Amino acid sequence: MSERDLSPRRLELPGDFVFGVATAAFQIEGGVAEGGRGPSIWDAFTAQPGAIHHAETADVTCDHYHRWESDLDLMAELGIPAYRLSLSWSRLQPTGRGPLNPEGVAFYRDLLAGCRERGIEPYVTLYHWDLPLALQDAGGWPERRTAELFGAYAALVADALGDLAEHWITVNEPVCASFLSYWWGMQAPGHTDLTEAVRAAHHLLLGHGLALRAFRERRPGAKVGITNLVSNLAPASGSDADARAATGLDVRFNRVFLEPVYHGSYGAEVAAVFAAQGLTEAETDDGLVRHGDLAFISARGDFAGVNHYTNTLVAADPDAWNGARMIQVEPAPTNFEWSDTPEALSAVLQRLAREFTDLPLHVTENGATFTDYVTPDGEVHDPERVHYLAGYTAALADARAAGADVRGYFLWSFLDNFEWSWGYSQRFGIVYTDFGTQQRIPKDSAYWYRDLIRANSRAL
Ligand code: NOJ
Repeated sequence: MSERDLSPRRLELPGDFVFGVATAAFQIEGGVAEGGRGPSIWDAFTAQPGAIHHAETADVTCDHYHRWESDLDLMAELGIPAYRLSLSWSRLQPTGRGPLNPEGVAFYRDLLAGCRERGIEPYVTLYHWDLPLALQDAGGWPERRTAELFGAYAALVADALGDLAEHWITVNEPVCASFLSYWWGMQAPGHTDLTEAVRAAHHLLLGHGLALRAFRERRPGAKVGITNLVSNLAPASGSDADARAATGLDVRFNRVFLEPVYHGSYGAEVAAVFAAQGLTEAETDDGLVRHGDLAFISARGDFAGVNHYTNTLVAADPDAWNGARMIQVEPAPTNFEWSDTPEALSAVLQRLAREFTDLPLHVTENGATFTDYVTPDGEVHDPERVHYLAGYTAALADARAAGADVRGYFLWSFLDNFEWSWGYSQRFGIVYTDFGTQQRIPKDSAYWYRDLIRANSRAL
């Protein structure tokens, strides 16, 4: 590991900077058949042979559905001021249509009120990938109707829960919910069809716009934004071929989502790449991108959510996907072989501020997975995560000094949880979850993060 100041110290951040932790409903709740919850695409996907590492499911996962009070107690003990959580759409609206399920509403009202009672500010994500299965049966995100139903769902949520949280994130990482889900087949529903994926991408963005409007109409005081995964993709060398390969991936991963939200148009380069799938720069009467869609998608939010994990170099390679080979920047010590290079987070934040938006930026996820285990002293020592976090939190101040208006940081994740296709093989938590006993053990990084938050709290 490189030389890095590992002390949980005061950083050059504004007094109202928000530190928090993040989770998502499907990854922690369990209780999949309780409280009137309907099945989601992830319940169906996890049941498919070969879809998930060791055929694991999230039927129980962290059992947070039953343990949320003690989980929030632990969060409060660790002095964590903000908690980004997501709502399970199929718990609140089992088939994605019709009235909300009262038991689901009661669960989330208790959870959100429980946060506030403990002095924890909830940041709520409306869509973190768990589409009600009935909507996938009707075509899923490739269908425009799904975006409309998501907008209607958001309106119901605004009415039912909007008094209990100020900050709302419409959609989490549309790149994963579209491309990884409908093109690469590695996430639910596991399809491999580029046209479906591009249609899903547009409809997820449209869903964001419709949800934003619903909140604007019903909860004028709410602060609303979308969270994008923003990857740092630099050319592996100074060659023109590598530069072209890096730009090509940037268009396919980043700009296809950032351009419409923050510039109000897909732009010529994105449209050229996905023209055959119907993604056009100009709006049409009956195509994929219809008149008025981009106005919804680009309506001004209150903050820009950014998830950032790793740092990738891109080399031209005719044999690789899209002619581009991705190489992790060293050191890449995490279990996913993702990089520990905090300057990439700073670079991504600066790029967003420079090229895309003057909105305040919230890092809505950042973290790393390592081989964590309980040692004979009953503790979990994770020096690699402390090293990672010390670097990435310091990068927030660097980004601010370079002109990016970063206002918040949410560490992924509070608990070790169900890491999608990788099941329980990847531990991202600052709190260790023993999935056999459901015991929680704060790792060394949890105490480090507590101390960092203290060192940066306004009271000091
Ligand atoms: C982003 C996703 O939003 C989250 O659900 C996932 O667990 C983390 N990345 C880590 O892969």
